[in-house]
Parts: sequence; C-alpha cells; structure tokens
Amino acid sequence: MTATAVAYPNIALIKYWGKRDEALIIPQTSSLSLTLAVYPTTTTVSLLGEGSPHEILQDGTPMPEAAAAKVARFLDHVGELAGSVRSARVETSNAGPTGAGLASSASGFAALAAAASSAYGLDLSPRELSRLARRGSGSASRSIFGGFAVWNAGNDDLSSYAEPVDDAHIDAAMVLGIVNAGAKPISSREAMRRTVETSPYNAPWVETNPGELALMRDALRRGDFTEVGEISERNALRMHAAMLGAVPPVRYLTAGSMALLDAVAELRRGGLEAYATMDAGPNVKTLCRAAEAPAVRDALASAAPGTEFVIAPAGPGVAVSNADAQADAAPGVAR
Ligand code: PMV
Repeated sequence: MTATAVAYPNIALIKYWGKRDEALIIPQTSSLSLTLAVYPTTTTVSLLGEGSPHEILQDGTPMPEAAAAKVARFLDHVGELAGSVRSARVETSNAGPTGAGLASSASGFAALAAAASSAYGLDLSPRELSRLARRGSGSASRSIFGGFAVWNAGNDDLSSYAEPVDDAHIDAAMVLGIVNAGAKPISSREAMRRTVETSPYNAPWVETNPGELALMRDALRRGDFTEVGEISERNALRMHAAMLGAVPPVRYLTAGSMALLDAVAELRRGGLEAYATMDAGPNVKTLCRAAEAPAVRDALASAAPGTEFVIAPAGPGVAVSNADAQADAAPGVAR
C-alpha cells in the first residue's frame, strides 16, 4: 500500500519526436537512449481511502496545477488497471532541474509508474511497466531500463514498449552542459504536436529514422564509438530541424547551445572524441567514452567558463522498495 521508487533520466541518441496517437502516446518512430546515473527522481505512493482527491506533493509542497492534473490522470489509470477506486498520496522529488530538457519527465513517470503500480498491488513485468510509464511521458518508457534502451514504436498500447539493448559494446558517458536550468518555454507535448501538424520536415524525419536506428544498433553492436557519436549528433540536429520548420517555429536552442556545439566540434578537431545531443531545451549533452569524461568536462569548462558541467555515467533501471522491504530492479541494470 506504500511503495517508493527511484528512477533515472535517459537521453536519446535516436530521438522520439512526434506522436501517432496522442492519447496512448504511440510515437511516430522508435527511439534509443542511454539511462544516466545522475539526477534521479524519488517517488513514494501511499494509498488513501475512497472518494478523497489525490494528494500530489513535489519537494513537500503541492505540485503546480497542470503537472498535478497529469499525475492525477495517471493515478486514475493505474487505479483502473488494479480495479481500485482508492486515491493516493504522491510525494516526489527530483535531484536535478525540472522541465529543463534534462529528462525529468522520463525519470518522473518511470518512478511514478513503478511506485504507483506497486502501491496499488499490480505485479507488472518490466515490459508492462514500460508500457505504463509510456502513458505518462513517452521517454519514461525507456527509463525503466538501465544502460542503452530501445523503445519500439509499435502501433498500439500492447506493442509500444521499451526494452534493454543487450548487445551494445561501448562504454559511454555524457557530460551535461547546463546552459539554462529554467523550465522550457513550450512543452515537448505541444512542440511535437506543432511539428507533426505543420512542419514540412516532419515526413522526412519520420522516413529516415528507421534507417538511422538500424545503423545505430549495428554501430553499438560493433562497438564503433565514432559511428555511434556521429549518428547521435546528426539525429539531434535533424530533430531540431524538423521543429524549426514548424509554424510558428519551435526553437529550444540558444546562443549558449550553439557555443557548446562549436566547443564540442573543437574537441574533436583536437583529437578528443565527443558528440553533442540536445532535447527540448537549450542544454547540450556531450556523448564521450566513459574513461574520457573528465577530460571532456575540463575542456568544455574552459571553453565555456560560465556553464556548469556534470559528468553522467551510464545508470541503472528503476528500483522499487515497498513497505514489506522487498527491493527489486528491472533487468538491464549493471552495465
Ligand atoms: O517524453 P517527452 O514527452 O518528455 O518527450 C521527450 C522528447 C525528447 O526528449 C526531445 C527526445 C527523447 O527521445 O527523449
């Protein structure tokens, strides 16, 4: 009846951008990500009686209304799956910035899915948990798993889930460049909708992604870090190109983002292999070999003195502990 879950953000190397089904969150294309070992979300869900509203707290105070409404709808869905009309109390906190394009919704809904399903007494497989997390935020489907995970787009609720990539042979990390930790100006949900509905570049984005994903999976299998990096960086740029083509345009990247893209290219020219990726915000995440992360961080910090940089090794899948003191973690953890 009470369960606590800890989940970590993930950053996509092949991006999810655009939904085919808004209600079920079925994406236009499959995506592939690396779960990180920094900025976890910790969420506790306890069941209350029937008929009272859900109580939703973030860092000890009521969550802002729009976000709380999304969490409440998610809890109603979990209650329906469990055949329960009891409401719940949710207490959540993010170790990192919220809503800044640093995947707080991924760690947030992965932790909520795991804690709520456990509190409501559902015994879900990792795949079922991934499908449930997807209903809160698409990218959360991937944070159920540690290391590299692929979210198969599928075409309905049953076939759209993430799973671990268990044949990846690279030891990668990310260096997060915090250009701006403030909340994004437009939600990814709204920005995706606008891209799908108005951007002439949405169709080519959708058409080219399966080929890019296949190249990425092959490069991971062969342990070809250079190819993994090159595909990642161009995939991020193509996603931003698709949204820049929307009407009105969606632009998350700022002058600070562009300066970091230049700095990353300069590192490569100097022989340090690093590749940039950016999501629904101005922050730039630099993919590098795990052993070279400190050197990449130091080089970026001297190129962009005002920016904070955080090394993020590969992280674990979601873990749940409940009142019976049973802890368990989804597969794909230690990598
Ligand atoms: O899951 P959402 O709705 O927060 O969308 C995330 C979209 C990107 O972060 C930009 C890309 C991705 O695949 O994570």
